[in-house]
Amino acid sequence: MPEPKVFVTRPLFEETIARLREHAEVDVWPDSDSLPRDELLRRLRDVDAVLCLLADRIDAEALDAGPQLRIVANMAVGYDNIDVTAATRRSIVVTNTPGVLTETTADLTFALLLAAARRVAEGDRFVRAGGWKTWSPSLLLGQDIHGATLGVVGMGQIGLAVARRARGFNMRILYADIERRPEAEAALGAERVDLDRLLRESDFVSLHVFLAPETRHLIGERELSLMKSTAILVNAARGPVVDQPALYRALAEGRIAAAGLDVAEVEPIPLDDPLLTLENVVITPHIGSATIATRLRMANMAAENIEQALRGELPSHCLNPQAFGRATGNK
Ligand code: DGY
Repeated sequence: MPEPKVFVTRPLFEETIARLREHAEVDVWPDSDSLPRDELLRRLRDVDAVLCLLADRIDAEALDAGPQLRIVANMAVGYDNIDVTAATRRSIVVTNTPGVLTETTADLTFALLLAAARRVAEGDRFVRAGGWKTWSPSLLLGQDIHGATLGVVGMGQIGLAVARRARGFNMRILYADIERRPEAEAALGAERVDLDRLLRESDFVSLHVFLAPETRHLIGERELSLMKSTAILVNAARGPVVDQPALYRALAEGRIAAAGLDVAEVEPIPLDDPLLTLENVVITPHIGSATIATRLRMANMAAENIEQALRGELPSHCLNPQAFGRATGNK
């Protein structure tokens, strides 16, 4: 039997590549910053598995470029970059990396919340520009975090981890979710409310939903208009969950106080995007899970999913087990 082939779409940890090499011939794209579309399609041509990132669009065209593909292993918990339905139709399993990045992403979310509320990035720019002349009673006044109300939109694992941090700041917690989350209610006293009430009553609104047709522009002009003028929006989920031009207008007109963003509608955000002209926006380049330990866990989890698929097993973090059933003839 020829060795199976795996394509890894960016340089990854040596440890991860070495373990994949024990099972397969591995082709690693050498550039961390980009992978041209035509190269992606070309390198999928004869591989059994691809270990990809959220920046790689794995749509029907990409799946068709790899007629031998058995698994698409995303190194992310979100998988809106992959057409899972198209993969299922082709009996290709799709996997993600849930759980291992929860706490790290919650840390970054809270960092953005704190930075936006206490104007940390703005203060840093102010000092570097020579603005610090004296102690002033009115310099860079922000919003209190302790005792404020946090609205968590999407009380999944990451939302829950953010809410746990908020309890340490003695915050009141509201949440909106399609399901009741008894764990959050019992452990944190979180109250489930509808989205409109959450937006009206929260001092901080933090988004933790997957990107899907029903969550695209979940926060638009109308929703922003319900928020307090002192409120802060935090988005470390996916950019298109927020209507970005509407967010720009709300921030520029002072209809909400600030935003802390780790994601944008288009990534990387174009440098001429008007959001970048605003002092009341703190933005980071989609680094929610970016610690050494967590990225290593994510890479190894993606590799493990591939190893399982290549052995003919159902991968532990399979999003479409029906595709596996079809590939193996089991229903
Ligand atoms: C994810 O995993 O979906 C994050 O956005 C990146 O780690």
